Amino acid sequence: MTAVADFLGFPKGSVAVVSGVASGIGKELAPLLLAQNVRVVGLDINQAGLDSLDFGEGFSRRRLDTADREAVNALFAELHAEFGPIGYLANNAGPPSSAPLSIEAGLAQTAGSVQIMTQAWSKAIPAQGAAVVNVASVAGAFSGGPPPAVVADRIAAAGGIGNGWYGAGKAAIAGLTRYQAVMAAGRYRACAVAPGVIETPRIGDLTEGAYGKLMIERSPLGRLGQPQEVAHAIAFLLSPAASFVNGVTLVIDGGGTLVY
Ligand SMILES: NC(=O)c1ccc[n+]([C@@H]2O[C@H](COP(=O)([O-])OP(=O)(O)OC[C@H]3O[C@@H](n4cnc5c(N)ncnc54)[C@H](O)[C@@H]3O)[C@@H](O)[C@H]2O)c1
Repeated sequence: MTAVADFLGFPKGSVAVVSGVASGIGKELAPLLLAQNVRVVGLDINQAGLDSLDFGEGFSRRRLDTADREAVNALFAELHAEFGPIGYLANNAGPPSSAPLSIEAGLAQTAGSVQIMTQAWSKAIPAQGAAVVNVASVAGAFSGGPPPAVVADRIAAAGGIGNGWYGAGKAAIAGLTRYQAVMAAGRYRACAVAPGVIETPRIGDLTEGAYGKLMIERSPLGRLGQPQEVAHAIAFLLSPAASFVNGVTLVIDGGGTLVY
């Protein structure tokens, strides 16, 4: 058996597209891939956030709304002309669960974005080894929201708008990932990750409130997750080291959802 130090094994000259690169999980994933000698094209809707990134050589950035089909198609046409076939795609961007979206808009921003992005990306991929990782959430398997008593005030203040779109959209991403894994088999692998609560800017002051504290207390590991802990899993699932992993949704929640 050969011992391999660089066991992830990304081929020389690999290129990855990472959406939602300006913050949180995407901001951790880009440098991780760059350290594996993978060139990274980082996408985000937040221009100021993009401008603030300093990842050095191998990184390029583009402003994009991943739910805008025309813009996505135009951008990938440009990227394919510049880079040739692109091996890896991390569909990580998405609005926070607290965003007051309609169910239609929420599904468009979650599963809709994943579908549009993956279609455009997969028009030019390498003959072997291509992979996409879609970021779902444990909210896709549960209610996708805190207990009603905890958020009653917030929901009332928002005019009765809850966040039903989030759990629905994240469940749809896991379903879409399974479909991609089967229908695109032989062209690319498709996997998803389902993070629990991860300490990124979107969670705001959650840990200061009773609900956040309860979450931490009940978690088997006694803490929330860190964005790099999700980024590591995405990098693995994208990489050739995961060559026989296809269609899974990997839960990354410290075991938090095993306790009720
Ligand atoms: N943080 C958590 O607790 C948690 C838990 C489960 C799943 N997730 C998922 O992980 C992913 C990353 O979240 P994060 O916690 O790093 O959040 P974040 O808010 O720190 O970063 C998300 C990034 O996506 C960008 N973005 C949002 N909508 C976009 C769009 N339409 N087009 C392009 N860019 C867009 C934002 O500008 C932001 O830079 C999201 O899909 C989120 O739903 C997060």
